[in-house]
Amino acid sequence: MSHYLVTGGAGFIGSHLATELVARGHRVRVLDNLSTGHRHNLAHIPQVEFVEGDLADLAACQRAVEGIEYVLHQAAIPSVPRSVSDPITSNRSNVDGSLNILVAARDAKVRRLVYAGSSSAYGDTPTLPKREDMPTAPLSPYALQKLVAEQYCQMFTQLYGLETVTIRYFNVFGPRQDPGSPYSGVISLFCTALLGRQRPKVYGDGGQTRAFTFVANVVDGVLRACEAPAASGEVINVATGGRISLNDLLTTINAILGTSIEPIYEEARLGDVRDSQADISKAARLLGYAPSVDLEEGLRRTLEWCAHSEVRT
Ligand code: NAD
Ligand code: UD1
Repeated sequence: MSHYLVTGGAGFIGSHLATELVARGHRVRVLDNLSTGHRHNLAHIPQVEFVEGDLADLAACQRAVEGIEYVLHQAAIPSVPRSVSDPITSNRSNVDGSLNILVAARDAKVRRLVYAGSSSAYGDTPTLPKREDMPTAPLSPYALQKLVAEQYCQMFTQLYGLETVTIRYFNVFGPRQDPGSPYSGVISLFCTALLGRQRPKVYGDGGQTRAFTFVANVVDGVLRACEAPAASGEVINVATGGRISLNDLLTTINAILGTSIEPIYEEARLGDVRDSQADISKAARLLGYAPSVDLEEGLRRTLEWCAHSEVRT
């Protein structure tokens, strides 16, 4: 049994990591300021130690890492458009908060810190699928902030010997993704709209593509990254390998539900990436990772959850 700290553990992905760690018999502490996360995301795992605090407060980070062996650093304000309209607030969580948790983890001599990186770092690089050795080209404050924190992780490995691994996620979706804000992930918004027989909004022509990845695949990749000997100091994509346009995504959700609801098209978002697809061969090589839940199965499980979750959102 090991002792894990999950920053952002009251959020969507962090709560899935905490759930799996508890199922494997580990001790889990969560540090979260509940800015986009919710206490009820952890209600089913009362054995988790919940600490309410802000990563931008170094003392809170220092207390949170006491006795910790692994840090799964998930906390961030995850929205591209929110960072475009308010870059300072996003920077505080995504960059200042990341630097604080790295300093605290270094000083507490944790074994390894695994960071939630983002495929947004690639921007609109013309080649698909995106490989980790391609140059980065962030298009939004969010993408830049996630990249800065990733580079801080690598620098802490080089300068101080703190083991870090960045896992670059690609549009993660699944149960507990909060559909309650216009900044929410698109699948949570599409599923909620179609289940309520409402027309979803599509920003742009709907031809943009994403490598939508069911959350269980990400949990598997991150937990492998805690142990894999050759992963320290590395940046590794974790996704499913495919991509789908928003228009085709809507057709797929409509087909599963037996509906034919048309979207409302609106102007494209500033800072939006056009296409995203992951090369996952490095994750296979270094982590032994292979995706286990495909898009359609993931959508079915997500719709099932959305259909029963009104009271929780
Ligand atoms: P989420 O909003 O559900 O979770 C983020 C959590 O971090 C929330 O619980 C929030 O309250 C907490 N948080 C934010 N700022 C904080 C601060 N200053 N101090 C303490 N807690 C703070 O989002 P998510 O989708 O679960 O994202 C988790 C991580 O994965 C983020 O780092 C995000 O950038 C990254 N990521 C997500 C996706 C995706 O598609 N969801 C893709 C790539 C990367
Ligand atoms: C998402 C994640 C981000 C992550 C990145 C990695 C969220 C909120 N964002 O960004 O944290 O780092 O993937 O690839 O989880 N759209 C619509 N209608 C809507 C909402 C969105 O058409 O109602 C469009 C957007 O313009 C975009 C696409 O859907 O083209 C995906 O948007 P979104 O879910 O916000 O994710 P990303 O911006 O790709």
